[in-house]
Parts: sequence; structure tokens; C-alpha cells
Amino acid sequence: MSNGPLLFKDIDAPGLTGLDGYRRQGGYEALAATLGKKSPEECIEIVKASGLRGRGGAGFPTGLKWSFVPKNSPKPKYIVCNADESEPGTFKDRELMEKNPHLLIEGIVLAGYAIGSATGYIYLRGEFAHLRDTLDRAIAEARAAGLLGENILGSGFGYQIHTHLGAGAYICGEETALLSSLEGYRGQPRLKPPFPAVEGLYASPTVVNNVETLMNVPHILKNGAQWYRQWGTEKSAGTKIMSLSGPVKRPGNYEIPLGLPLRTLIESPEYGGGMRDGMKVKAIIPGGSSVPMMPASQIDTHLDYESLNAVGTFLGSGGVIVIDDQTCIVDALWNISRFYRHESCGKCTPCREGTYWMVEILERIEKGGGRETDIDVLLDVAGNVFGKSFCALGDAAAMPVQGAIKHFRAEFEHHVRNKSCLVNRRRHSVSEVTA
Ligand SMILES: Cc1cc2nc3c(=O)[nH]c(=O)nc-3n(C[C@H](O)[C@H](O)[C@H](O)COP(=O)(O)O)c2cc1C
Ligand code: SF4
Repeated sequence: MSNGPLLFKDIDAPGLTGLDGYRRQGGYEALAATLGKKSPEECIEIVKASGLRGRGGAGFPTGLKWSFVPKNSPKPKYIVCNADESEPGTFKDRELMEKNPHLLIEGIVLAGYAIGSATGYIYLRGEFAHLRDTLDRAIAEARAAGLLGENILGSGFGYQIHTHLGAGAYICGEETALLSSLEGYRGQPRLKPPFPAVEGLYASPTVVNNVETLMNVPHILKNGAQWYRQWGTEKSAGTKIMSLSGPVKRPGNYEIPLGLPLRTLIESPEYGGGMRDGMKVKAIIPGGSSVPMMPASQIDTHLDYESLNAVGTFLGSGGVIVIDDQTCIVDALWNISRFYRHESCGKCTPCREGTYWMVEILERIEKGGGRETDIDVLLDVAGNVFGKSFCALGDAAAMPVQGAIKHFRAEFEHHVRNKSCLVNRRRHSVSEVTA
């Protein structure tokens, strides 16, 4: 099912996980064309000019992030690959690493060369234990072939990569919590600034980049910034892997040129193939569970950073969750909110308490015990979490609540007033209510 113009172009090529198979697809040519041939500054400029933005959720320009690393720091510098992939609805990094581990290795070495780093780490979420073997095998192969370790390809540049397995906590995907976890401490976020580029792993300059971001780098350095810009839009350059889930005919990962209409991703036979069993689209969460949902009426929005921002939501990590007309939005939101309550690390009060209360109120509304004031109280709680929490997990918990009520308030009101659901007409007894 995998396809796509760039990262997914050869992803199902025979033997791609091994060094020979990767080389047959042009693997490590970027390394040979870059080490000792382009200066590190040139590499940063090319990545800047390509318009590549971080694929981990925030969409920060990658070349710009690299340029923040101080040139003259006496401390070692690090590349940390964020392979924690915990955003519900997002499953792209997993497929990329499973099928093309050498591309990630090549991307990390090139990023390291650009910022003057000699060591990189791949931080994998605990559930990806099987991928650690795949990556360790590829690292050993690359080292044996002189593509990692001392004096790579005789360039005088050396690089080491280590894999690290987390324990499976969503907060460990947040870059500063990830760094704490990698250092052996509890995975809780740190105050920014200082940003990791200046003071990251072991208080040394560190670039944290997502798997997909790093995998774009060899292609960009080998083929140039303008070549990369043949896909996407002016401000959202390149391609993006979208994880499509929900009751579509062909769920899965699809690589799209940024700017593709959402409708095409859901309906085109090349991608999702439309809805299953005569179901209709009711809502779409375009960027993983943390972003505000959109009503079906916005299905013609284009999938790029700017177009989604214009309708009040985000591209995020690219997890497109389709919600059908048989699904109760209150129930769906309650489910999402339970996730954020469970994953809140508890460090700050707005998120720790706010996620708890959002779940309590949603449960009350869903089970038929909601009060007239509950919807506004819910919005008030979300408003006191959004922008007031220590890290972006607070925003991630608040935005789904705000988006769902903005577009589907009538469903919440129906639950409160009629003690039943607009969709499945289920009548709840108030005795079910626990809060
Ligand atoms: C709660 C939370 C979870 C996150 N999870 C991930 C993740 O699983 N993978 C990821 O790449 N970025 C994740 N991020 C974003 C990272 O903090 C960071 O922005 C990203 O790794 C930077 O890489 P990029 O510039 O290549 O996108 C998360 C952020 C937050 C607030
Ligand atoms: S916002 Fe939530 S996850 Fe982030 S520090 Fe506060 S309690 Fe922890």
C-alpha cells in the first residue's frame, strides 16, 4: 500500500532494510557527495533553502534550528532522533524505520556533520523494541562498511549512533522530557529557554529532530533545495507522510505532496478510497489527536501548515483521523481526553488538574448527568489549561475540547438536555454517572 514520490518511493524495494538493498536505491550517495565536499555551513544553508520543516508536530524550520547550535562551543554536540512516536493516530515513523533504517542513519550522520556533532542517539518508544534490533543491525552494517565510526569514507569525519529504548510515555516525545529520560532521569519537561540547541543533552548543544525530518535530509543534500521544492507549497515545501485512520476503505500511511486537498487523501482510490459501508464523514482530526477537529464541511481544506492554520487547526504530526456520522463526538472526545489525563506527567497544576476535570465533566455529560452549565465550565477549564501549562501537552489536551465544542456544540447540548445521544439515541440513566 505504500507509495509516494520521495520517502515512500522505493520503500517496498526488495532488501531495502539491508545495506546492499539500500545502496541499490542510491543509499549513502548523499553521504559520499557531502562529507568533505560541502562545508557544514553549506549543508545548513541547503536545508534552510529547501524549506524543510520539522515533521514531529511543531513544523519548525529544520535548517534554522540547526543554525542555532553555537559554532564555537567547547562542549560535544549531539543529534537526537525523536523516534518516540506516541501521538494517537500517528504511525508513520514506525513504518519508515521498519522498512528503511539506513536512510535514518544516513540522515543522522549528515545532520551531525552539519552541526559539528560526533554522536547521535535514536530514542525509541518502549513499544518499538523490535525496531531497536532492526536499527542496531543496520548500524552494525554501516559501521562494518566504513559508513559509520571513524573516518567515514576517508573524509576524516567520524560518527557514532546509539539506540535507546524508552518505557512508552507520551510525554517522553516532548523534546526536553526526552532528553531527561535519555540522561536517565524521570521523563519530565524542562524549562525553555535554554533551548536544546544551546543546552540539551548533558547540558550540551543538541538538535532534536523527528525521524521523518531526518530522512528527508539525504535526499535534499544529494539533489538540492530547488529539487525538493518541486513538491509542496511555497511555505510548506516537500512531501509529508500522512497516517490515515478511521472507517476509510484503505487506512494506512500515504506520502502526499504538501498542499494536497484533504478530500483527495480521504476519497481518492490512490489514497483512502472513500468511506466504508456507506458511512459519511462527520469530522476529521488532521494532525494527530492533539489538534482541533474540523467538521466535514471543511474537507476541501488543503493539507499544508498554512491552510490548516487558516481553519483553526494544525498539520501536527500528520495523523488524519476520520470520524464517521455514526460516532458520538462527546464519546470520541471523552476517549481522547482520557488519554491526556493518563499521560499528563503531573509536573504542573493546570495540566494535572485540568485534564482530570475535563475527563470528569465529559464523563458526566456522556453518561447523561450533565448540567446546563457544564459545557461552558468545560470550555473554562480548557481555557485555563491552554497556554498556561508548563509544556505543550497541556495545549494538546485543551485543543480537542475547544475544537469539538466549537463545531459540535449541539451534540453536547443534546446530551445535557435530553440525557441521550444525538447519534445512537442511547438513553443513559443518571445513576451511571460517577462524577
Ligand atoms: C507531549 C508531546 C509529545 C511529542 N511527541 C513527539 C513524538 O512522538 N515525536 C516527535 O518527533 N515529536 C514529538 N513532539 C515534538 C517534539 O517536542 C519536538 O518538537 C520534535 O521532536 C522536533 O523535531 P522536528 O523539528 O524534526 O519536528 C512532542 C511534543 C509534545 C509536546
Ligand atoms: S503540561 Fe502536563 S505534561 Fe507538561 S509539564 Fe505540565 S503536567 Fe507535565
